[in-house]
Formats: sequence, C-alpha cells, structure tokens
Amino acid sequence: MSQYNIQKFAVIGAGNMGSGIAQKIATEGFPCVLVDLDDEKVERGMQTIRDLLAQGVERKVFHPKQVEKILGNLSGTSDWSELADVDLVVEAVFENLDVKRSVFERLSENCKPNAILGSNTSSFHVRDLASAVKNPERLVGLHYFFHPAKNRLVEVIGHEGTSDEAYLAAWAAQEAIGKTPIWSSDAPGFVVNRYFVPWVNEGVRLYEEGIANIPTIEWASKKAFGVGMGPFELMNVTGVPITMHAANTLAEQLHSFYAPSQALVDFCAGDEQNWSLEGPVDESKYDVIADRLFGVTFYVASKLVDEEVSSIEDTDIGARVGLRWPTGPFEMLNDVGVERARLLAEAVATTHGLKLPKLLVDAPAHGLPIELVSSCDANVATDLRFNNPATMNALDKNVFIQFDGKLQFARATGKAIVLRSTGKAFVAGADIKFFVDSLNSDNYPSIAEFASHGQKIFRTLAGGDKSVVARAHGLALGGGAELAIACDWIVASPKAAIGFPETGIGIFPGLGGTQRLPRRIGMPLAKYLLYTGSILDAKSALDIGLIDAIAGFSDIDEVCLEWAAKAPSEEREAPTECPGEKWQAIWNFFDNYSVDEMLSGEADCMANPVLEKAVKRMSQKSYHALKLCEGLFVEGAHQSLERALDLESRDLEKAFMHPDALEGLSALLEGRRPGFAKPAFA
Ligand SMILES: NC(=O)c1ccc[n+]([C@@H]2O[C@H](COP(=O)([O-])OP(=O)(O)OC[C@H]3O[C@@H](n4cnc5c(N)ncnc54)[C@H](O)[C@@H]3O)[C@@H](O)[C@H]2O)c1
Repeated sequence: MSQYNIQKFAVIGAGNMGSGIAQKIATEGFPCVLVDLDDEKVERGMQTIRDLLAQGVERKVFHPKQVEKILGNLSGTSDWSELADVDLVVEAVFENLDVKRSVFERLSENCKPNAILGSNTSSFHVRDLASAVKNPERLVGLHYFFHPAKNRLVEVIGHEGTSDEAYLAAWAAQEAIGKTPIWSSDAPGFVVNRYFVPWVNEGVRLYEEGIANIPTIEWASKKAFGVGMGPFELMNVTGVPITMHAANTLAEQLHSFYAPSQALVDFCAGDEQNWSLEGPVDESKYDVIADRLFGVTFYVASKLVDEEVSSIEDTDIGARVGLRWPTGPFEMLNDVGVERARLLAEAVATTHGLKLPKLLVDAPAHGLPIELVSSCDANVATDLRFNNPATMNALDKNVFIQFDGKLQFARATGKAIVLRSTGKAFVAGADIKFFVDSLNSDNYPSIAEFASHGQKIFRTLAGGDKSVVARAHGLALGGGAELAIACDWIVASPKAAIGFPETGIGIFPGLGGTQRLPRRIGMPLAKYLLYTGSILDAKSALDIGLIDAIAGFSDIDEVCLEWAAKAPSEEREAPTECPGEKWQAIWNFFDNYSVDEMLSGEADCMANPVLEKAVKRMSQKSYHALKLCEGLFVEGAHQSLERALDLESRDLEKAFMHPDALEGLSALLEGRRPGFAKPAFA
C-alpha cells in the first residue's frame, strides 16, 4: 500500500484560485481545510464558494442538498495546527517566492511527513521551493487553471527530487477530484502558458505593427482557432497585467521572443483597464493574422516537445481541456499541413533569431504522429493509455488502428498490460457521430468494418500469455464497458460507473457485450443490464462480479499491478447462482420472463418497485434492439465464446439497418428522447 493515502485535502490561500480549488475538492466528496492569513480572509474565500454554489442552485447545476453536503466537506481556518492530519496540500498564495517558501516551511512544521505538498505557482520552478520543504520528495507542482472549480486541467510537475511514488499519488489524487492531469517537466510556463502567453502577445504585436485593428485581430483569431474569445478579450477578462507579467517571466527564463510587446507594456503603464474591442473588421487581413498566430503556436508547441517539457498528446490535451480550443496545436499543425506549418513557424523563428525546432525539421510530410493511444513500458507491465479526454476517450476507427498496433507491440515485450485513460472517463463509448454519418450516407459497411476491427482486437485481450487489466478509474459505458469486460481483469476506482446503454439508442452492444457479459455475471443479470441500460456504481459492479476489485485512487496503480501479475483469466462459464439477496428479485424475474412477457405486462412484478422500474425503463428502449439482444442471449448461451461472438457480429447489420438505430443515435446527438417503433402489443 502506498504511504500516500490521500483522503483529506487542504488549500492554503483562499483567493481566486484557492477558493475554487477547495470548492472542487469538496464537490468531489473529499474533506478540505481552507487556510488563509486571518479569519476575515478565510471567511471571504468561504463566502465566494457559498455564492458560487448558490448560483449553481439557481442554474439547477446543484440541488440544495448537494450544496449542503459540499459545504459540509469544507472547513476554514487560520490555525495551521489543523493541518496535522491532511494528506495533500495545495498552496495557492500570492505569486511571491519568499511568501511561498515561508508557507512551505510552515507546512513542513505543521503537516505529517508524508503529506504531499503541491504548489500552484505559475511562474516559479517547483525546484525553487524544494529547499524550504522537509522531505522534498513529496513536493510537486499542481498548476490549475481559472476557474479551478470548472476548468478540469491540471499540470502535474515533479522537480528532480520528487519520488515516483509521490508523483503518482499526486496524479491519482487529481483524478479523484475530477481533474484531467497532464505531465509537465519543471520548465518555465510549464505546458499551456508556454504557448498560450505568446499567442496572446502575438495578437498585441500584430496590433502594434499596424497590421490590423483590435476588432479585426479578435475576429481573425477566433475564426482561425475556433475559439470564443480572441487575445484582447481574454486579457480583459483575466486582467491585462497578468499577461504582461507572464510574458516577462518567460522572457527572463527563455528568450526575448517571449517578452511583452511594446504596446502591451505601454497599455499597462496607462490608465485604461480594458482594451477597446469596438470598431470595423477588415476581413482582408485574415490570412496574415492567422498565419502569424499559427506560426507562433507551432513554433512554441514544437519547441516545448523538443525540450521534453511535455508530449505531443499532453500539449494537445492542455489546449483542448484547459483553453477549450477545439483542437490542440499539433492537431492544428497536421490540419494546416506539415510543409506549410514549417514555413509559418520558420517565419516567426527567423524574425526573432531563433532556430526551427527539431520536431518540425524532422516532421514527416504526411503529419506528426499524434498518439490517440500511447504506451509506456514499465518494469512489471506495459501501460496503454487512451488520450482523448475531450471526447471521453470515445472509440473510433483511428483509435482502433492505433490501439491494435500498440497492443501488438506491448504483447511483444512479454509483459502484462494495463489499459488506462486520461480525463474523467475511462472510455465512454464509441463515436456516435461516425455511426450517424455512416447511416445517413448509406454506408453501413464502414460501421461493419469498425465493429469487426474492434471485435478482432477485443478477442485478443483476455486469455493470452500475460494478463490485461482495465484500470477503470471513471465512466465505462457502452463500447468502453465492452472493452473492460474483454480484459482479463477490471480494477475500478470508487468513482467508476459501468453500463451498457445501447438498447436505449436503438442498437445492441456489438463489441462482445451480449456474449461476454452473461459469462461474467450470469444470464439474468446480463439481461437486466442490457435491457434496462442501468448504470452500476463500482460497489454494485463488484457485488455482482462485473468488476474484479475496487481500489482507492492512492492504491489503484499498485492494485492494477497485483492483478496484472496474476495468471490471465480462463474462458468464463456463466454463473448460475444469484450473487446475493439484494439481486434475487431481479435475478428471478429476468431468468423467468421473456422480453415480450415483461413488456406486455404478462410478467408478474409482484408490486416490487425495483422490477416495475426495470420494466418501465425497458419500455423506453428500442423493442427491436431488445429482441435482437434476447435472440443473441439465447443463441449464444450454449456456444463457445468464439462462436457466440460470431453470432453477435452476424446480427449487427440487422440492428444498424433498422430505423430505430438511426433514430436512437441521432436522438442522442441532438439531446432529445428517441421515438422508437412500438411492439404490436403495446
Ligand atoms: N489567477 C489565475 O488565473 C491563476 C492561474 C493559475 C495559477 N495561479 C497561481 O495561483 C496562486 C494564487 O493566485 P490567486 O489568483 O488565487 O491570488 P489571490 O491574490 O486571489 O489569492 C491569494 C490568497 O493567498 C493568501 N495568502 C497570501 N499569503 C499567505 C500566507 N502566507 N498564508 C496563507 N494565505 C496567504 C491571500 O490572503 C489571498 O487570499 C498564485 O501562485 C498564482 O500565480 C493563478
């Protein structure tokens, strides 16, 4: 068990960032102590949280009971002795090195020796704080983004002396509080600010050079990057001096290219608070503005990968999650085309006397490899990581191609494999838009090809020479749940949720779900889950044997390795006994009655509200999909798994070519209730 068992948090500094970080921690169900210089400042931070939560109630984001619970998880104090039992502290005080160092000295005195200490510094190196900390192996950077109660991104930064154990525990703690962590080395600006600040600054340079007026630069940058605010509006929202400060810090540590443009310096020296965004837009200036902003972004993003500050994937995740850009710098670079991207970056680099980053020099003409699935070969097991948190790691054609390749490579190392993913979800299903587009263009074969590739990969997961473990830390839905049950073992976090909602969107689980699920949990419960689309929390899933273990975020990696070290699972035989009293009524009901009997009212619910609710939920699903599921359950039950999976593939066309599929899938995309064909007896 890790020495870092993180259950209780503290945040030092109840200002803009600290109060938001504490709010998020408490919202995710963890106790958190909020500390500031005196009681008045603590109270101000607590009031900010109360106000935001009250707004959440007004907007129906929170129920008043939830707010009560969140506030119950929070306590405010200026008495540092209350930090004695906290497991992870986030420092979010003024951006002043002496102040921060004195806070870390005080934390070293007041916290237990194995409390993880994290700093939210934006401009200092984490290593600058290390000598102020007793046991600096537990010191990390935890760089959150405004507004930290809403923005999911956090950069997790180790300094040279951070231990792997502390780093992993700090990372897992971010997942526990619903954040999307990305890796960063201890470098100036870390990952996102390193390219975002120059992007904003370049906007001001364009203005300073007289290339265009502010409204034109705003318009062109929004259009080119697909974002809601351009550089000037963003500065107005966050405070113009913050950009100047950030640019100065980067310039001091890196190169004069990062220095604030003169127009920015002049603006900050003047009396105005905000840039004026009013005025005519000159659309003829689009190309010159877009090219410069692209050039800066491609130059800096490539440079930071050259310097091993972060990976291509994490750099893109940073933009998508932290800045809400629709595509990351490298996806954009590939869209623009490597040849052109190189020219644009070169133009920027040459202007500032810089060299083109090696990544760009060596980039193949067809595009940089962006790893939707990346691999990391560790001592005991190879980690395969799904890298697309913005789509909740949805499975699509490209993901399968990369997953297949990485899997074969990982198998060749002869080690066990752990499947993990970035962001809140493990894998939240398949790419629904692809299904809808394919059906709308009469291209069922592309769906069949996608499913057959997925089936082929999933068939190789379990029962190999070494175990494959699914590290289901969050939502595993549809294709994601099928992926998990195709593995030898599933280790879930207490926050995981698993379910098969397909019949509610007019189809059935076509990546092995109809055949592997009964073999894992018994036919009656498999019917219950597939017919009703019920989503189980981790505890219920463990109860019925759907998952193999639950591990808290502090231990989940270690527990995954324990399961990875076990022999792979044998081909499973469907359990024939109910897992416990709690499930008995459901077991009996779904064991005894057919879909038609349940839906027509012939089946006796015995006034049991759980069964009545189950039937009601079934009545909202596609009858056609339910019947296909039922047929596959019956037909597949007495076959080998291999043969049963063939049957499932055979019926896929019947599901997708029925009007319920297009209706259900489209309704999901459009956020409306589907209108399915009713059975004759309804
Ligand atoms: N604001 C942002 O957008 C942003 C984004 C990422 C990181 N950061 C970083 O987060 C940190 C905090 O920024 P902020 O915007 O919340 O600042 P802020 O000024 O709003 O809040 C700082 C808080 O720290 C308290 N404080 C100061 N010294 C203290 C001490 N010795 N002990 C306890 N509390 C103390 C202050 O009273 C204040 O309430 C900074 O390091 C900043 O660089 C800010």
